[in-house]
Amino acid sequence: MQVHTIAPTPTTSLPLRRPHRRPPTSSSSSSTTTTTSTSDADLDSRGFALHRTITGLDLDALNNVFARVGFPRRDPRKIMKALQHTPSLVWVAHREMPVAFARATGDGVFNAVVWDVVVDPSYQGIGLGRVVMERLIEELVGRGITNISLFAEPKVVGFYRPLGFAADPDGVKGMVYSRKQMRPQQKRRW
Ligand SMILES: CC(C)(COP(=O)(O)OP(=O)(O)OC[C@H]1O[C@@H](n2cnc3c(N)ncnc32)[C@H](O)[C@@H]1OP(=O)(O)O)[C@@H](O)C(=O)NCCC(=O)NCCS
Repeated sequence: MQVHTIAPTPTTSLPLRRPHRRPPTSSSSSSTTTTTSTSDADLDSRGFALHRTITGLDLDALNNVFARVGFPRRDPRKIMKALQHTPSLVWVAHREMPVAFARATGDGVFNAVVWDVVVDPSYQGIGLGRVVMERLIEELVGRGITNISLFAEPKVVGFYRPLGFAADPDGVKGMVYSRKQMRPQQKRRW
């Protein structure tokens, strides 16, 4: 696998750059949407290529994007294995390098969980996060999968809400099993 790094690109020179707060459209308002606010053709005309498979995806470059946003850098072989078990993914390339990514795993019928939503910091704030999430949701809903969940850090909850996600809907709490969180006496039983 080749190691590529994404040269920091001044966001002001990006073709997709526009005022951060844009007027709401029918698809960017407060409710869940299965339509997209930026068309594939629009992306293409601005030099961004949309992908829905891992073909052509440079895993080392993707790992660099993960690291740039503060995610732990992971073994590319494990990333590959995870992606091979990921039925739905969307990524955007600029100059053939991944700059935005999102994926969802699930049972293929009822439920899906969204993972690894990232936009390279040099490309944040120009709509690419919305681009990948809208398409991921569109694909899942198109396959009849309407129970879609994700784990959001507090600072990004506001990003997911306009896409239709709600925290603790009807009081339902998400719970996570983690060996790191187990108390010492629990550990002794194993
Ligand atoms: C969160 C992230 C994916 C957003 O991607 P992005 O490309 O910068 O977001 P967009 O430009 O598509 O923003 C779409 C809308 O969400 C809003 N938004 C973006 N980030 C936001 C945040 N952290 N909180 C609240 N709103 C946010 C934008 O203002 C924009 O609103 P508008 O449509 O009214 O103009 C990106 O900042 C990122 O990769 N962060 C680091 C990794 C991370 O935290 N991922 C989520 C893991 S839970």
